[in-house]
Amino acid sequence: MADYVEIFEVGPRDGLQNEKRAIPTAEKVALVDLLSGAGFRRIECASFVSPKWVPQMADSGEVLAGIARAAGVSYAALTPNLKGLERALAAKADEVAVFGAASEGFSKANINASIDEGLARFVPVAEAARAAGLPVRGYVSCVVECPYDGAVAPSAVARVVAALRDMGCYEVSLGDTIGQGRPEAVDLMLDAVLQELPAAQLAGHFHDTSGRALENIDVALARGVRVFDAAVGGLGGCPYAPGAAGNVATEAVQAHLEARGFATGLDPAVLARGAEMARSMRVG
Ligand code: HMG
Ligand code: MG
Repeated sequence: MADYVEIFEVGPRDGLQNEKRAIPTAEKVALVDLLSGAGFRRIECASFVSPKWVPQMADSGEVLAGIARAAGVSYAALTPNLKGLERALAAKADEVAVFGAASEGFSKANINASIDEGLARFVPVAEAARAAGLPVRGYVSCVVECPYDGAVAPSAVARVVAALRDMGCYEVSLGDTIGQGRPEAVDLMLDAVLQELPAAQLAGHFHDTSGRALENIDVALARGVRVFDAAVGGLGGCPYAPGAAGNVATEAVQAHLEARGFATGLDPAVLARGAEMARSMRVG
């Protein structure tokens, strides 16, 4: 039987958060509902961050209330602080994520806190989420390059991964936020991170700015990573990472993995429809 690799769909969150046009809630709900039939186990579709910082995600509660939840799919949300967690609980998110960074410049720009201030803020969020029965995922941004600070040391990434592990994150997603990672740098970073957390608890989150996301996925596969974040239609970017293009496209990762003999459990016809819908949302 083919080795299963999970694609964690993040388009409705990481993809849409960067779009300039105020996308109507109904369109977001329609995208999630379509993707719910594709075979994903997890879809990130909400972000309970400050609406002043990311206006596009202000209707996350309405999105979670409006979708038709498919059995066996976990609908995930970002929660930067306790206020975000309260909103996620009220909206009945199935799981939440805290998001730190391996570089000071990005941490400050993204959450208005240093790396350590951010981590300290996440501890009670993770504790309260787990007490409420919600799994908590961790993200580390800028695992190879930072738009403000340049190259990031693998040891800095490993340190943040260890902190997220210690606060109980069930998985840590490693973000090449601005898609500048070269395969050799990704491999060195993974070497350091694997000293802290086994591959079974890691995910790769590659943006495709330089067209190297699939190569970087191959590097992570060789290291045993079996979960990759992607956005249908290659939606997205990050509002606090200038120059960040979209996440690697789900349909491209799916085709790549299947061509390499891995099973993804995803229906390519549904993904193609999702990619088309995502592209139409970009232009309005
Ligand atoms: P701050 O301004 O330092 O926080 O922002 P604050 O506590 O002073 O709050 C400011 C205002 O926001 C207050 O309102 C709060 O109530 C409100 P006011 O009193 O002025 O009316 N507020 C909130 N409202 C709703 N929900 C909340 C919330 N928190 C505060 N949860 C903060 C700090 C962390 C809130 C802010 O910086 C923020 O929201 N940042 C999020 C930025 C973001 O969403 N970035 C994109 C996601 S990360 C990403 O894309 C990377 C990733 O994909 C991986 C990768 O690619 O690397 C995950
Ligand atoms: Mg991202």
